[in-house]
Amino acid sequence: MYNIAIDGPAGAGKSTIAKKAAKKLDFIYVDTGAMYRAIALYFIRAGVKAEDEKTISEKCVDIDVSIDYVDGAQQVILNGENVNDFIRTEQVSMMTSNISKYPAVREKLLNLQRQLAAQKNVIMDGRDIGTCVLPDAKTKIFLTASAKERARRRYKEQVERGIECDIDQIEKDIIARDEQDMNRKTAPLKQAEDAVLIDSSDMSIEQVVDAIIETFEATAHSQ
Ligand code: DC
Repeated sequence: MYNIAIDGPAGAGKSTIAKKAAKKLDFIYVDTGAMYRAIALYFIRAGVKAEDEKTISEKCVDIDVSIDYVDGAQQVILNGENVNDFIRTEQVSMMTSNISKYPAVREKLLNLQRQLAAQKNVIMDGRDIGTCVLPDAKTKIFLTASAKERARRRYKEQVERGIECDIDQIEKDIIARDEQDMNRKTAPLKQAEDAVLIDSSDMSIEQVVDAIIETFEATAHSQ
């Protein structure tokens, strides 16, 4: 199977870009952040605090996360329920960053992610795909953009969804999430040594998609 790993900070446009690139290459797109978000949603609903690592680690066994595709779009299934519509709030974003540092939570999703990559040609995005989940992926991209630009994009996206929000608060949240994701002990957000860095601050979506396809072609043909 051919695997493409895309990592990068919050709001860098990974999912938008990876979805389009997957379509062009006829690969399956796997959004690993959505899986962590489903687990975070479970604990928010259960009223468990993010700091309670013991309860979270113990309860992880009660959670079943899987993915499905409807018209090519990934759906996350949490204990039998499609939770796609509930996992994109800022509350879930922060809870996800808080709990994804716990080894038990990461362990829970690692096998599922590796199984998916073993079965199909995938473009998988997340924080630790090139460094930890798929260290042998033939194409690795680290996609980033300035915090200001990432906040601007996230703000636009939320407004389009009809969600009221404050751009300065979004920027603060993004920076806090990056800090936490980069500095955790288990599988931190980090550029893999063999990843190609793309800074999309001044690039259009199409330009980034093209850069990824070019990187894929260059890396695929060099092996
Ligand atoms: O990509 P995203 O914004 O949906 O990710 C939400 C959070 O999930 C992110 O702040 C960190 C965590 N995450 C992770 O730890 N590892 C991944 N592979 C993907 C996401």
